Amino acid sequence: MSEQEKRLEESWVTNAEAWTQSVRQNQIESRKLATDQAIIDEIVSLHPRKVMDVGSGEGWLARALHTRGIEIIGIEGSTELVQRAQSAGGGSFYQLSYADFSKNPTQFGTDFDAAVCNFSLLSEEITELLQALSTSLAPNGVIVIHTLHPFNLAADDRYEIGWREESFVGMGEGYKAAMPWYYRTMSAWLSELPKAGLELVRCQEPVHPRTGRPLSLLLTAKPRIDR
Ligand SMILES: C[S@@+](CC[C@H](N)C(=O)[O-])C[C@H]1O[C@@H](n2cnc3c(N)ncnc32)[C@H](O)[C@@H]1O
Repeated sequence: MSEQEKRLEESWVTNAEAWTQSVRQNQIESRKLATDQAIIDEIVSLHPRKVMDVGSGEGWLARALHTRGIEIIGIEGSTELVQRAQSAGGGSFYQLSYADFSKNPTQFGTDFDAAVCNFSLLSEEITELLQALSTSLAPNGVIVIHTLHPFNLAADDRYEIGWREESFVGMGEGYKAAMPWYYRTMSAWLSELPKAGLELVRCQEPVHPRTGRPLSLLLTAKPRIDR
């Protein structure tokens, strides 16, 4: 595992409490303004019975979907976040790194109508996980990827793939570690799909309601029949 991947993983242990506060106290503006509703609307529009929440964090999405009658299994690398999700309810949450999940991807069944990655694909290598998720899907199941919009960059940042650091400024208090994450341009995101045997079903770009700037990229994809 690279140094960045190791720090990425550790940051979700170190920052578990601060992150839980940020999410539960609605301190992340883009989430409040548009992106939470966008992911809920997309999942609900699929009328799923069972959903895998991949990188489920403290579990807000699982709870939101559970109140709409959807069964949720959450997988998440940080034990600290799994404990918080589990005690708040709304689904069954398991401590698993994506690498460990990918070794046995059908362990929670092969009947998921959707696997959702809500701001949780942060690594350089994601093909193995996307392939593993495909094998856990029901026949018409989809993978939903929600991520920071590639155009939502600092003005002086270069439009090129590579590792960046998130310092959580403006998202709340108590963060003790920066988080390395792998930035992808629009073309890089779109090329991840065929690499994993997926094809695009729908692409959405939720915007800031006042400025009209793109906030996130929401890709719904399905396994290619000929893969
Ligand atoms: C930005 S948080 C999003 C959490 C949640 N999906 C939400 O919407 O609030 C990213 C989550 O992905 C998880 N994650 C990222 N890479 C992971 C990996 N390789 N294995 C397991 N979990 C991972 C982190 O632990 C963290 O909880």
